[in-house]
Amino acid sequence: MPTDPNLLVSAATSDDAAVYRISADLALVQTVDVFTPVVDDPYHYGAVSAANSLSDVYAMGAKPLLALAVVGFPRGRLPLSVMGDILRGGADKAAEAGVVIAGGHSIDDPEPKYGLSVTGLVHPDAIVRNVGARPGDQLILTKPLGIGIITTGIKQDKTSSAAADEVIVVMERLNRDASDAMVEVGVHAATDVTGYGLLGHLYEMTSGSGVTARIWYSRVPVLTAAHELVRQGAIAGGTGRNYEYLQPRVTYRGLDEPDQLILCDAQTSGGLLMAVAPQKFDALVAALRRRNVDPVAHVGEVTDPGDGRIEVVDTAGPA
Ligand code: CO
Ligand code: CO
Repeated sequence: MPTDPNLLVSAATSDDAAVYRISADLALVQTVDVFTPVVDDPYHYGAVSAANSLSDVYAMGAKPLLALAVVGFPRGRLPLSVMGDILRGGADKAAEAGVVIAGGHSIDDPEPKYGLSVTGLVHPDAIVRNVGARPGDQLILTKPLGIGIITTGIKQDKTSSAAADEVIVVMERLNRDASDAMVEVGVHAATDVTGYGLLGHLYEMTSGSGVTARIWYSRVPVLTAAHELVRQGAIAGGTGRNYEYLQPRVTYRGLDEPDQLILCDAQTSGGLLMAVAPQKFDALVAALRRRNVDPVAHVGEVTDPGDGRIEVVDTAGPA
């Protein structure tokens, strides 16, 4: 691993982006994320992928400024207009975020791929890491789970068009407003919920912070169609791997296997998971609501010092 003292955050801690200090009050945030189509419509695929790439910068409490597009495209097999639609979806989403896509690179590729390398800025003292959670912190999640189940169901022709439309809206929603709220109030730790699912990303947070946590399953927001689809086998490969990895690290109380899989579901462009001190909890909820972030779900709490272990209970937790 590199040891440059200005490299404040690196891949060593599985954080969302690298952070490099330029001066005492300015640091660069750098990230790249590229994936294959999650929805059939090329414009929406571009927009979802761009929102997902920007999310890692928001998760650090930083402002994205500039991006470069990374594109793989089967030139001989698909009309070039499809690539144009993907790029337009990404550019529109970046514009909504106030980010300029200044260029990029494309290669011939049998399967389409699209994503952004994003550059952002943050004050070195204001970086929000995915570690730093403390016992007593309250856990807030800002998008529903089930994204991976529903997009897998699309590929298996099991997802209704209404559920497909809903998941696109959720994936395209920027995490900007949630990030602004957490920066305004101040949190101990945050990450975006993506490929490792809620419990996988929470485990990175708890193990890296040296704490344990409890999730109240009935408070976790889940896209309605996901309950049915997961029971019909719409389970992404990544979700199965998350579930296996987490087995020795998570204790489930009163949940059947499909509900456990929902908590491990690999998300594309999922919400932010934040650990906030109890005395700042009300202010954070108010700041999120003021920005119309929805859901603002109080899904659990950090319990004790420990090795990262997570307990999931099938209750609503305290009032
Ligand atoms: Co991330
Ligand atoms: Co990422």
